[in-house]
Formats: sequence, C-alpha cells, structure tokens
Amino acid sequence: MSLSGLPRVLVTSNETPTTGIDLLRTKCDLTIIPATVSTREQVLQALPGHDAVFLVSHHKVDNEFLDIAGPNLKVVSTMSAGYDHLDVPEIKRRGIKVGHTPMVLSAAVAEIAVLLMLAAARRAHEGRTMLEQSQLKMGPQWLLGHDLRGSTVGIFGLGNIGQMIVKRLMGFEVGRFIYTGHSRKKAGDELGATFVSFDDLLEQSDFLVVAAPLNNETRGLFNDSVFDKMKKTAIFVNIARGQIVNTDSLVRALRNKKIFAAGLDVTDPEPLPPDHELLKLPNAEIIPHLGSATIKTRNDMSTIAAQNILNGLEGKPLVYPL
Ligand code: DGY
Repeated sequence: MSLSGLPRVLVTSNETPTTGIDLLRTKCDLTIIPATVSTREQVLQALPGHDAVFLVSHHKVDNEFLDIAGPNLKVVSTMSAGYDHLDVPEIKRRGIKVGHTPMVLSAAVAEIAVLLMLAAARRAHEGRTMLEQSQLKMGPQWLLGHDLRGSTVGIFGLGNIGQMIVKRLMGFEVGRFIYTGHSRKKAGDELGATFVSFDDLLEQSDFLVVAAPLNNETRGLFNDSVFDKMKKTAIFVNIARGQIVNTDSLVRALRNKKIFAAGLDVTDPEPLPPDHELLKLPNAEIIPHLGSATIKTRNDMSTIAAQNILNGLEGKPLVYPL
C-alpha cells in the first residue's frame, strides 16, 4: 500500500501501451521505470514493497527476485504469452498469483509465421541482398524456391498459435497438415490435421513450424540429429523460443544444405549480435522477435496484463492465470 492507501504496482517499461496503464491508474499507485527496456538491476532496485509487478520484457522472476520484492508482493503479471522467464512453481508456492497474456497475440504471431514461411521458401532475403550487390542473373533457373501449394506443413505444438497458423494457411492449397505434441487433439481433427510422431513430422514436413513453449522437454530439442532427419528441401520456421533450437546445429544444417532454408522470429542468443553466423547465411530469413508487434495486439496484451493485476489484487481469478 502507498500513502494514498492504493496498492503499489511496479511497471518495468515507460513504453508500456497506455491501455493497461490507464486501467491500472484508476485503482493503483504506479512506479514506472524510466527506461524502454529496463535492466534487471533497475527492476530489483525499484521492486521492494510493491504489491504487484507488470513485466513488460522478459525479466527473470526467480528466488532472488521474489526475496527482494518482499512479503507485499501479491501478483506477478507478464505481458507475454510465454512464461519461461518465470519460476511459476516457486511464485505460486509463495502464495503469489501469476498471470500471462495468451490468445490475444495468437493471430499476430500466426501472421508472422506465414510471413517467414513464404519469405524463406521464396528466398526473399537472398534476392534483396543480390539486388543490393548488383548480382542479378534473372535466368529461368535463378533463385527458385518452393511452393506452399501442395506441400506438407508440419506444426510442432498445435496450441492456440499452431491452430491459428493452420487456419491462416487454408487459402494456400496446402496438401496436408500434420502436427505433433503430447497427444492427438480435437482441434487438430476439426482442422483436418493429422497427428503424427515427432520422427514422422521431421521426415514428412516440407515446412516445419515450431509453435511450442520452451520447457525442459523442448530446450535444445532441434539439434544435429533432428535436422539430419528433415528433408533437404525443408523450410524450418521458429516463432516460439530460440532456445528450442541448438543454434550451432541450425547454422550447420543451413550451411551444409541439410535443409533448404529457415525463417526465424526468435533466436538464441537474442538479440543476435550483428556479426553472428546466422546473419551471414543467405538461406536464413531473420526478424527480431516481432511476433506480437502490432499496435492492436500490444494494446490488448497491455490491457490483459493490467486486468490480471487488478483481479489478483481484488481477490478475483486472473483473466489468464498460470
Ligand atoms: C510472447 O508473448 O511470449 C511473445 O513471444 C512476446 O514476448
């Protein structure tokens, strides 16, 4: 509680969309860190005594964070769907509520997946680079790519985002949708997608899109032996988390043409240093984690993150609890 009697909420960026900030201001006393992307030190310094924290970027919430926050902390709200930066069991063990913002970003992330599939398959980055370097050859065999039409699209993780990707691809006359995960899903049946084993997904996909969360099962899963099982013509897309992929293995797969191309919204490390090997590869389409970066989506995420806090402080169920 602040002197005004209102609960104190720490917001970790001064560029948080105002939709959420305006909502919080009606009932809370806000501390907004004066940085677009605050450092961990700034957050830890400002943290003690707050009743809730609104995480705009992926600050790690671990024992150290929770100890420094102290006993007042009642809600941790991350403005993201992914929550691999949060020690959820420990947060809950301490009786603190924790929420995230899934669903509202699924359409925007699915659009980015389609963008990367097409850009990687049609060699957009390579073509642009050649244009800039006056290396145009323009012959009938030059810069040929692959069609989505008639292809087999494999989704690794048919959650809300995976399903949205399939829905958005319906107009492309895709030959077949396949997916893998823990179990066959009703949503998969409804979309006409076939549940397959992980190995079948690797062996059969012309486009393989990673749309699963990062956890102990998926961390580093896409390594040399996995890329070895994929088609030489495969297009690999990751819109989930960079750490699901072993970056050195991906670089080898792209350089040695074990696969045709990759489209990446997420990488490990993130951000990629400008001289990183991945950025030198002609067959890697890379964008800097822009999946949810539309005005409407970020506004919606901010509103949900704020509502999670208000609900938590008022003893109501969060909109999207973890
Ligand atoms: C998410 O919400 O998890 C997106 O990756 C943006 O952080």
